[in-house]
Amino acid sequence: MGNRQDLNRLLEVANLELAYETVQVVWGVNLKVSRGQVVSIIGPNGAGKTTTLKALAGLIPVRKGRIIFDGQDVTSEPAHLRVRHHLCLVPEGRQLWARMTVEENLLMGAFSPPLRAKAHQNLNRIYELFPQLKERSKQACGTLSGGEQQMCAIGRGFMAEPLLLILDEPSLGLAPILVEQVFQMISRIAAEGVTILLAAQNANQALQVAQYGYVMEAGRVALEGVSDELRASDHVRRAYLGVSN
Ligand SMILES: Nc1ncnc2c1ncn2[C@@H]1O[C@H](COP(=O)(O)OP(=O)(O)OP(=O)(O)O)[C@@H](O)[C@H]1O
Ligand SMILES: [Mg+2]
Repeated sequence: MGNRQDLNRLLEVANLELAYETVQVVWGVNLKVSRGQVVSIIGPNGAGKTTTLKALAGLIPVRKGRIIFDGQDVTSEPAHLRVRHHLCLVPEGRQLWARMTVEENLLMGAFSPPLRAKAHQNLNRIYELFPQLKERSKQACGTLSGGEQQMCAIGRGFMAEPLLLILDEPSLGLAPILVEQVFQMISRIAAEGVTILLAAQNANQALQVAQYGYVMEAGRVALEGVSDELRASDHVRRAYLGVSN
């Protein structure tokens, strides 16, 4: 039984401690993500969400604790090797090449040699799934709307054939209708079988799309649970869903 559960687990983070130089900002964080799940991390500004996600991608060294991905200890593995193991981060703020077209940006997601051979096949799959990106394929990314840019950034992550797609604030700064579109895109990618871990201040959408959620506050996991239970909890309702009674 235990074995079966282990096989099903794609990511396990145990006792993670992270710091910027001498300032520790993440304290003893534990996270688990099973294959095929969408898991959300919610929490206020400065809670440590981005820091945690960067550490998962190998962009910040781990001070203490372990990161097990797809059965392997990747705690001190460099970022480019994690990408090769199909652990992909779509960073906060999108970070697209503004002068390059949508298609060129998408193809950059399949830059590493093992992916290049399948790049055009994956590109067509993305265009099939997200016709909006196809319509804009020849347009420079710098001229896209915020929502389209976010879709392009997520699409670029998808080009790397992720086992785990990590999304940091996918709906940041977007108007409500675009937030809706971006979360629809996330659901569609999840329906393709991609496991997703996302961080968002938009607790409502983040918990709607996810099966399981973590609430991070001041560098620690303050609360975790099945999304529906979290959404029903007084703490989440008051602090994150704007319910006053
Ligand atoms: N490069 C850095 N150097 C020093 N401190 C940093 C750096 N980046 C973040 N921090 C600090 O680490 C803490 C956690 O920040 P982090 O960006 O992980 O929070 P967050 O939960 O992603 O917040 P937000 O919701 O605003 O994106 C904050 O106190 C922040 O000031
Ligand atoms: Mg952040």
